[in-house]
Amino acid sequence: MKVGVLGAGTMGAGIAQVASQNGCEVVLVDLNQDMLTKAENNLDKILARLVEKGVVSDDDKINIQGRITYSTDSKDFKGSKIVIEAIVEKLEVKHAVFANLESIVANDCILASNTSSLSIASIGSALKNPSRVIGIHFFNPAPLMPLVEIIPAVQTSQETLTSAKSLIDSWGKVTVLCKDTPGFIVNRVARPFYGEALRIYEEGIADFATIDWAMTELGGFKMGPFTLMDYIGNDVNYAVTESVFAAFYYDPRFKPSFTQRRHSEAGFLGRKSGRGYFDYAEGVIKPEPTKDEVVGKQILDRILVMLINEAFDAVFMQVASAEDVDKAMTKGVNYPKGLLVWAEEIGLKNVLGQLEALFAEYGEDRYRPNPLLRRMAK
Ligand SMILES: NC(=O)c1ccc[n+]([C@@H]2O[C@H](COP(=O)([O-])OP(=O)(O)OC[C@H]3O[C@@H](n4cnc5c(N)ncnc54)[C@H](O)[C@@H]3O)[C@@H](O)[C@H]2O)c1
Repeated sequence: MKVGVLGAGTMGAGIAQVASQNGCEVVLVDLNQDMLTKAENNLDKILARLVEKGVVSDDDKINIQGRITYSTDSKDFKGSKIVIEAIVEKLEVKHAVFANLESIVANDCILASNTSSLSIASIGSALKNPSRVIGIHFFNPAPLMPLVEIIPAVQTSQETLTSAKSLIDSWGKVTVLCKDTPGFIVNRVARPFYGEALRIYEEGIADFATIDWAMTELGGFKMGPFTLMDYIGNDVNYAVTESVFAAFYYDPRFKPSFTQRRHSEAGFLGRKSGRGYFDYAEGVIKPEPTKDEVVGKQILDRILVMLINEAFDAVFMQVASAEDVDKAMTKGVNYPKGLLVWAEEIGLKNVLGQLEALFAEYGEDRYRPNPLLRRMAK
């Protein structure tokens, strides 16, 4: 089967690798020859490491590389069953690209976008046959992260949905079905992990290291919110928050934080700039958390109930099934447990009680408990 991937950056190169590892013939296209060369060299290094570790054989390596063609010409997509687009996150550019793709491939070729923040319906509007558009949202790094969100737009046909989902399933990925709404599942439900942590810091309840300690040591999360934001990049994480906030018509639940904005403006972007919330310069010792279990538990509980409230909202608004919401958070961002299962464990009445207390104290909409949570707690 021939698969086209447009854009040879971080995501496109990873998606091409996944498709080829699963036996597909891949054409990877980018405007920029340097990006193609970089992608080709990177794949060689990645596969050499996998051979060393005994994960793939020398023959596998040759075959995986042999199945990928690198090109600067989209016409080479001719004959593809599906093209997955992973270029810059700009709607006008994606529109032009999708219209052009349609003039190259056959009428039954699926045209998918890996967009994180644009609506699939808006991307599909550039097509004469929009029933073939779909969102196929991989996580970074695509070869390692099991989750893929599958997002049909209002124009998408059942046939497109079924074929796209079964192809990605056949690549060994964990797929979840998601409505075409801002942030899809993961980037919507995860917002409070960052936003509430920043708010707790801004209120002076604890410093970065202590909040991270509470979430990792007491909560079992692999990384604390500030370490994770430093890893993602404060500029990138802030931009996602801002775009989700705007896309939800400025719902206060998603309000961005001044602290993150200022860090981003100052160039404290995280690991990539050498400094974010923490200083990554050589020899600098990471600050010690204040290991007060009572405060730590308050921090964990507050962030956790906010995450659970978002998970309930996603189910309430039919964005995805409860099962898929839990799958998305455990397989896409490595949460230690699905949020809805977690809510059952600590008790829905308990979760509701904590949110009601926050809402009563602050009087802010951001803390309003979700109606589905209320109903189920009853
Ligand atoms: N980086 C992530 O963590 C991540 C995760 C999930 C989804 N996404 C989404 O995936 C897409 C790509 O993100 P990325 O991080 O890989 O970007 P990137 O900047 O690493 O790569 C984008 C590539 O697209 C190429 N390009 C730009 N315009 C093009 C055009 N008209 N035709 C062909 N090639 C073109 C660029 O030369 C570049 O190589 C975006 O829509 C983004 O929202 C990113």
